[in-house]
Amino acid sequence: MTTEQEIEKAAEILRSGGLVAFPTETVYGLGADASSPAAVKKIFAAKGRPADHPVIVHIADMSELKHWAAEVPRAAWLLAEKFWPGPLTMVLKRSPHVNDLISGGQNTIGLRVPGHPVAQQLLKAFGRGIAAPSANKFGRLSPTTAEHVREELGNAVEIVLDGGPCDVGIESTIVDLTSEPPAILRPGRVSAQQIADALLVPLGEPAVDRPRVPGSLASHYAPRAPLKIVHPDEIESYVRRQVVPPPVAVLARRGRPRDSKVALWQVAPETPEEYARLLYGTLRRLDDAGCRLIVVEALPPLPEWTAVRDRLDRAATPEPAAQPTAARAS
Ligand code: TXA
Ligand code: MG
Repeated sequence: MTTEQEIEKAAEILRSGGLVAFPTETVYGLGADASSPAAVKKIFAAKGRPADHPVIVHIADMSELKHWAAEVPRAAWLLAEKFWPGPLTMVLKRSPHVNDLISGGQNTIGLRVPGHPVAQQLLKAFGRGIAAPSANKFGRLSPTTAEHVREELGNAVEIVLDGGPCDVGIESTIVDLTSEPPAILRPGRVSAQQIADALLVPLGEPAVDRPRVPGSLASHYAPRAPLKIVHPDEIESYVRRQVVPPPVAVLARRGRPRDSKVALWQVAPETPEEYARLLYGTLRRLDDAGCRLIVVEALPPLPEWTAVRDRLDRAATPEPAAQPTAARAS
């Protein structure tokens, strides 16, 4: 666990414009002084991330909302009261002083008060906002332990505060409050229903927070091995049809069938919370075991599985685009 000296050292690194990895209850973040464009620039370099992707600013408590947002609508105060500190990010209109790197050139800002005690201690010791995306290379799985951060970023980060394994395991829910009605940009542990209940309004259509280029192989939150989502009843036959060299891994909520030929059958937890908590660590382990293909059992189409399904869909390798008929005929 993290000592007071380590927190003070990390705050000092932030003050001098350096990078610090720290735990939050969702995933580990790669932090920089949000008020310093030069410091925020280092995040993009360390992650290999395109500059038009906005970065969430982490704050110690809701009183800092007014510093970062140009307008704080009543809905934002309501959600802050209810869900902060916690795994919820709000997108609001940004203050004029917010630099373009933070907002990805848009007129909005993402703000979150994390609940993890180490994140809280760091924010208090530093005394200002900390810009932090997840502490992974661009497109890869978010880290949920300090060890994962070191594997991802190595020497690119001066200090990794160790707060143990993350409790939530997937990134925060992002809700956009800049237009009416509010809409979920990224599902997470705080559900759309909980937000709608708190605001007493129905939410707008969920939008995807990142455009996906059709047919491109670039996926997000992804392991190195291709990942395919397969209906529970078709897993065995799907694996039998594959021509990839072994080992093929299966991640399923049911146990391995007795006659199964799959060597690596990983049983995933029953509940969405537990599933989310272990998901990225499990995918990393299967990658590290040298798997050539990861077959994941499709999850039930129920609201409580929305956030985990979202991450698996993004991690999944897209099917190759269908060939035009003429080309196929030749
Ligand atoms: O749980 C989390 O949210 C973690 C921890 C470290 O806080 N952070 C995280 O950050 O997942 P990142 O950068 O990996 O993902 C943030 C997402 C990106 O998809 C980004 O486009 C979106 O939030 N985002 C940030 N600011 C935004 C804004 N102003 N408007 C729209 N989307 C925004
Ligand atoms: Mg990320």
